[in-house]
Amino acid sequence: MNVKVAEHAGFCFGVRRAVDKVYELIESQEKPIYTLGPIIHNESVVGDLEAKGVKVIENIEQLHSVRDGVVVIRSHGVGRAVYELMESLGLSYVDVTCPNVLKIHKIVERESKAGKNIVIIGNAKHPEVEGICGWSVSKPVVIETVEEAEEYQAMNGNPVCIVSQTTFNYNKFKDLVEILEKKRYDNNVLNTICNATDDRQRETKQIAKEVDTMLVIGGKHSSNTQKLYEISICECGNTYYIQSPVDLDSEMFQSSSCVGITAGASTPNKIIEEVQKHVRIKF
Ligand code: F3S
Repeated sequence: MNVKVAEHAGFCFGVRRAVDKVYELIESQEKPIYTLGPIIHNESVVGDLEAKGVKVIENIEQLHSVRDGVVVIRSHGVGRAVYELMESLGLSYVDVTCPNVLKIHKIVERESKAGKNIVIIGNAKHPEVEGICGWSVSKPVVIETVEEAEEYQAMNGNPVCIVSQTTFNYNKFKDLVEILEKKRYDNNVLNTICNATDDRQRETKQIAKEVDTMLVIGGKHSSNTQKLYEISICECGNTYYIQSPVDLDSEMFQSSSCVGITAGASTPNKIIEEVQKHVRIKF
């Protein structure tokens, strides 16, 4: 079996930095360590951290019950109110928000203070987008679909600042911006999709075009992995979303001589290597 593994598969810089920081804290901290939400969307990494004593705080309300310890703000980032809450509770925290996300926080804060309407192209339920919303001084609007873009109306006809969730699909972003541009508001469009995402999506598309079966590896809840799957299935109908080698099945490779492998930003290299080995040996 010929196997092509994407060069940009797996941990991006922001995720690696966040995960490394938590392991570093385990070594250096005596106090209990908490992460505000799972540090990444990968069960094996989160499980390993839990085994080393790191606890996951599932929601902001739970912060009230933390008495002593260090809270890690993960790469997705959080809104201003969360920092204020932690400060008012006297909690120590370590902030590993990805610098690319911090940049969006700054843009949204600055532009909303300047009176612009904020539009975020992304998924409103994604923690990164929730965090970005939390930096706008006016009510931001999140747009994910063509219908939402068509319905959008800028408040008071004020200028509009458009940013994107870092892991959004670039082509979809372009399509949605095109719809918004037709409304002839004074738009300031900032493509804040991060390079790591862009590279990964481009490469996935290219590999999916060249192979008979495509494997997309990532956690069930990883939105960037879901996007890789969407991109891949358009080019290769034989695309499968898997989490680990356990999900592999010989039916996936029937009449395939070439298999492509890509993985979301929260997939550890170890899992990518295991999948690759498995495909080469077993099928
Ligand atoms: Fe940061 Fe981009 Fe990763 S925004 S967390 S480097 S996907």
